[in-house]
Amino acid sequence: MTEQVLTRTDAAGLRRSFEELRAREFARLDECGSVYLDYTGSALYAESHLRAHEEFLKHHVLGNPHSENPASTAATRIVDDARRDVLDFFGADPAEYTLVFAANATAALKLVAESYPFQAGSRFTLLADNHNSVNGIREYAARAGAETIYLPIDADLRLQKGARIPPAGSAPSLFAFPAQSNFSGVRHPLALVQDAKDLGYDVLLDAAAYVPTEHLDLGSVHPDFTCVSFYKMFGFPTGLGALIARREALARLRRPWFAGGTVDFVSVEGRVHRLLRGAGGFEDGTLNFLGIAALSGGLAFLREVGMTRASQRVKALTGRLLAILGGARHPSGAPAVRIYGPTTADGRGGTVSFNLLDASGVPVPYGEVERAASVHGIALRGGCFCNPGAAERALELPTDAMLDCLETIPQQSFNLKALADCLGGSVAVGAMRASVSLPTVEADLDRLDAFLTGYWQPQTETP
Ligand SMILES: Cc1ncc(COP(=O)(O)O)c(C=O)c1O
Repeated sequence: MTEQVLTRTDAAGLRRSFEELRAREFARLDECGSVYLDYTGSALYAESHLRAHEEFLKHHVLGNPHSENPASTAATRIVDDARRDVLDFFGADPAEYTLVFAANATAALKLVAESYPFQAGSRFTLLADNHNSVNGIREYAARAGAETIYLPIDADLRLQKGARIPPAGSAPSLFAFPAQSNFSGVRHPLALVQDAKDLGYDVLLDAAAYVPTEHLDLGSVHPDFTCVSFYKMFGFPTGLGALIARREALARLRRPWFAGGTVDFVSVEGRVHRLLRGAGGFEDGTLNFLGIAALSGGLAFLREVGMTRASQRVKALTGRLLAILGGARHPSGAPAVRIYGPTTADGRGGTVSFNLLDASGVPVPYGEVERAASVHGIALRGGCFCNPGAAERALELPTDAMLDCLETIPQQSFNLKALADCLGGSVAVGAMRASVSLPTVEADLDRLDAFLTGYWQPQTETP
């Protein structure tokens, strides 16, 4: 469905309905003159979602869950309903899956990292294209004596052709990959889930960048663990994510501690504790129950828009974004932008990384571009986006020289600028990232186009 070709009339209708959505739900962007192109950083909340949540809070009395008083049972009910709703949104059968609320995708990943039974003989295998919140799991793996193996990505930032997942080790082994790269927007094949399972792995799917604009059906993909951050899906609330886990896989995790909210019983004298079974054993302390109360509204917004339409719209916008970036030229006709990763809208989401090039083809430091864009009211992101594997491949960072620089630059003066200087100045150590989503309209991309065209004009002529 998502790869369906739209006819010209369909495309015009789709565009019109998303322009109406922008005017109805995201008018503040135009009121503030803001061109927001950082949706991979965070989605924006729809006004109706916020209004509905405010109304709900005004008319309900909610207290700390897990007690028998009315305010508490009301909150417990809200949490249970939200758990069911999120599972339903992802097609996750509650008989197979359970949902652990966490502060964000990172906290959800850490629950797996610290509890996975890594040991000598275990393997932690992952794509080179991963967020640091997944890369960091290798520290838990290493401490337990497990081996970490990275699968390489190619110049297009997709999994290298011919790269094979090695078989799981002789002890519990974990395979991790992002459904969508937060660096390049590349969508890695969801078939990797089954491939890795067939090789004996438990599979951790980082869906944080994928689910805001594409439907994920856990009922057909069946990863053992999936993480999401809700603010990336519908902008509000922040501070809330989830680990969606197969019940059987969750039961094999070993929590390294217990905390308030996670136990049935603790004895100080007897030094024993009984962890709650299932999700409750992983939810440390008091849940963000007021935030959780806003989740069903966010999911309802996405359902109303329709994930198939959202996907089609983002694909069209991504095509336009790529055309603008790919078409940017110096007055001499030389390319003014280098795009990292695929240059077509196929098999990817609405995230594009790039650098501006000066007239001789040398990348402009991303910090300069980010600041200049900000002056024009354009929100782009600069840096490596917490994805060093994709950045190293895209920017062709010389590993040995980089390691030498890490040795020579004193810790207290280390930053990316110092690293760039140490590497000789002409190596880009970061990039720019533009990302589009449901609130984006063509006029936003026109403003980006004008900014890029004006970048090389004398100051007085810039718009
Ligand atoms: C693919 C991916 N994974 C994980 C994360 C971490 O999400 P959070 O910072 O909400 O924990 C992000 C955030 O940008 C991401 O894009």
